[in-house]
Amino acid sequence: MVTKCVFPVAGYGTRFLPATKAMPKEMLPIVNKPLVQYGVEEAVEAGMRDICFVTGRGKRAIEDHFDVSFELETQIAGSGKEAALEGIRTLMEQASFSYTRQNEMKGLGHAILVSRRLVGDEPFGVVLADDLCLNPGGDGVLAQMARLHAQFRCSIVAVMEVPQEEIGAYGVIAGEAISDDLIRVTDMVEKPDPAEAPSNLAVIGRYLLTPDIFGLIEATEAGKNGEIQLTDALRAQAQQGCVMAYKFKGRRFDCGSVPGFMEATNHCYDTFFKNG
Ligand code: G1P
Repeated sequence: MVTKCVFPVAGYGTRFLPATKAMPKEMLPIVNKPLVQYGVEEAVEAGMRDICFVTGRGKRAIEDHFDVSFELETQIAGSGKEAALEGIRTLMEQASFSYTRQNEMKGLGHAILVSRRLVGDEPFGVVLADDLCLNPGGDGVLAQMARLHAQFRCSIVAVMEVPQEEIGAYGVIAGEAISDDLIRVTDMVEKPDPAEAPSNLAVIGRYLLTPDIFGLIEATEAGKNGEIQLTDALRAQAQQGCVMAYKFKGRRFDCGSVPGFMEATNHCYDTFFKNG
């Protein structure tokens, strides 16, 4: 059973400036719920109740969000407005939250390595909160991946097909199909030149990793953009052991971009709010 989930949240969110000047990008709301809360809900639904944030300067609002807001809650007690806080209070009861700081911006692989002490020697989930994944009426993406991990006991990455002009924004896999939705990874490239991409299957921000990834990240040199890339460590893991890529069920919104963020907002408003 996978119980821990890492949320790397130290990044700046420059695409949303000035909104993210003093506010973490993970706290941007999709209608009335911060992006990061959707991700934590997905992790908890998958049984991952130990939430480990890899945080940084200027991210205090995330800690405050998953804590009691004493003055606010005292103020609105008995007013009927408490109902709006029920979801987050339930989530806080279901999970525990730990924080560690990434004090240098050296890439996603580095952020994961920073979580090593919190995670220990067990498999763990990773959520990039920018990627909002919804699968109404079915299991969330992490829950789908946890089931696969129980079967295969190896690292799993979530993938989706993307058009060639967008593939250069992602980690891209190559591999051998095992079934309609499962591929055994043989190679992985971070943000390839689209003409050289090994496939049209892009990794999105959901991973289930076995703990040997930490040693592999340690041995990984700086790669694309001078950063320690998780993709490079996963390539090594795929070549030495086993990594599976899973074409998840559900819909993913790229909330790290303004158009994706707007699409998610409109979708969530229409689906969850418009008719009460
Ligand atoms: C990161 C990863 C990339 C992955 C992407 C998914 O890139 O490095 O492999 O495809 O997340 O959203 P970023 O978008 O942080 O540049």
